[in-house]
Amino acid sequence: MAKSKSVYVCSECGAQSPQWLGRCPGCGKFGTLVEEIAESPAPQKAAKRERSGSFARPVPLKEVREEHFARIPSGIAELDVVLGGGIVPGSLVLVGGDPGIGKSTLLTEVAAHLSKTQKVLYVSAEESCSQVKLRCTRLGLGGSSMLLLNETCLEDIEEAIGDETVVVIDSIQAVYTSALSSAAGSVGQVRECAGKLQRIAKSRGITFFIVGHVTKEGALAGPKVLEHIMDTVLYFEGEKEDNYKILRAYKNRFGSVQEVGVFEMTGEGIFGVSDYSDIFLSPSRGEAAGCCVTPAETGNRCMMVELQTLLSKTAFGMPRRMPLGIDSNKLIVLIAVLEKRCGIPFYNQDVYLNAMGGIRLNEPAVDLSVCAALAGAYKNRPIDADCAVFGEVGLTGEARGVTFAEKRVNECVKMGFKKVVFPAKNFKSVKKFEDKIELVPVRTVGEMIRKLFPEQKKEQAEE
Ligand SMILES: Nc1ncnc2c1ncn2[C@@H]1O[C@H](COP(=O)(O)OP(=O)(O)OP(=O)(O)O)[C@@H](O)[C@H]1O
Ligand SMILES: [Mg+2]
Repeated sequence: MAKSKSVYVCSECGAQSPQWLGRCPGCGKFGTLVEEIAESPAPQKAAKRERSGSFARPVPLKEVREEHFARIPSGIAELDVVLGGGIVPGSLVLVGGDPGIGKSTLLTEVAAHLSKTQKVLYVSAEESCSQVKLRCTRLGLGGSSMLLLNETCLEDIEEAIGDETVVVIDSIQAVYTSALSSAAGSVGQVRECAGKLQRIAKSRGITFFIVGHVTKEGALAGPKVLEHIMDTVLYFEGEKEDNYKILRAYKNRFGSVQEVGVFEMTGEGIFGVSDYSDIFLSPSRGEAAGCCVTPAETGNRCMMVELQTLLSKTAFGMPRRMPLGIDSNKLIVLIAVLEKRCGIPFYNQDVYLNAMGGIRLNEPAVDLSVCAALAGAYKNRPIDADCAVFGEVGLTGEARGVTFAEKRVNECVKMGFKKVVFPAKNFKSVKKFEDKIELVPVRTVGEMIRKLFPEQKKEQAEE
């Protein structure tokens, strides 16, 4: 009997090595190489590949027929937004997230909704059919016509798929292929299973929703190889105790990757939240100093997000900079600009910053709002509850124009804000909102601070 060969595969990057190494030669991480049984086919046989047999000829671009993919609504509006407008038939969608966050719940709801118009198969490799049924009953979906399958072998699953157009695999880590002898959930198995599912999806036009578990470090287990194969990779994020979960597109071949969907988890199921004002805005804003609201652009939608800052005297040594939701380097740069250009000292202050609702803001348009919140915290003066600020800040302290200014001001108007502070460069594009909201264009950070916190006037009044 031929002796089975083993290879050592990095659980982080998927690099292979014939012997065990303490450090992965691919990504340089320590202790990540895991033993796997090498695939059985003899290399001599695999070396000779047959020609495809199809005689494809180059086609002029103009003559290529455009195929219009009619997107299918998933039944959950927030999910459709994240997917870029609905489900693309024949695509592979990976839904990743921490244990217990609600991946199965979300996909059960999607499957139940789709089963009204399509043939849907829900493959539960982790739970028994009766457990899935229990969940369906709890969610009020007991009458759904979807098919359930409790199976872990991929070949059997493939055989069981008949004329279904949508298949849910829950989860990829629990499924194994008999072609490999390593355990289900290992790098080789996950990669091979995902590859096989991709071939089925593309050849038979089946849409796959695949659940993927997240490792301790936050990466999808069965490393990056999984993300390459998928058309769309979605991450479910949020604290376990928190009812609100954020679904974020990490990769999307058919839409923007910056989309976020907000969901609320309840005993009756998971619901998309379209009015997210109480998630990203605190009800007491306008009372405490150090808070500022900004219309942030995330993907195709604009959201009003509150930034909260807190200053506390540094006890000893280096002052701390602790931003949650924005890049820490950005905070350091903005603090330097405020110190140098506006004379606000932070050298003996620990700075804490939090974007409410756990949202991540990566765009430069939040700069001016961060500066406004910090200046307010330093002056211990709150900004009006119905005032919003957006704009980029340059190192010279100038307020630079940003994209989607019109959309941002429109969102401010929609959400009932009365005043918006923004870079003067954007004035032309938002002038039409003049009669709906007070427009305050500013050229520099200093000008913004003077307009938000008009000190002289107050002092004169006191005199
Ligand atoms: N009977 C119940 N009543 C209310 N909420 C429940 C009930 N059962 C489960 N839940 C909620 O559903 C969540 C689990 O959802 P779900 O099984 O979809 O998570 P998951 O992401 O698929 O987890 P796993 O990774 O373990 O498969 C729990 O966190 C819990 O809040
Ligand atoms: Mg689950």
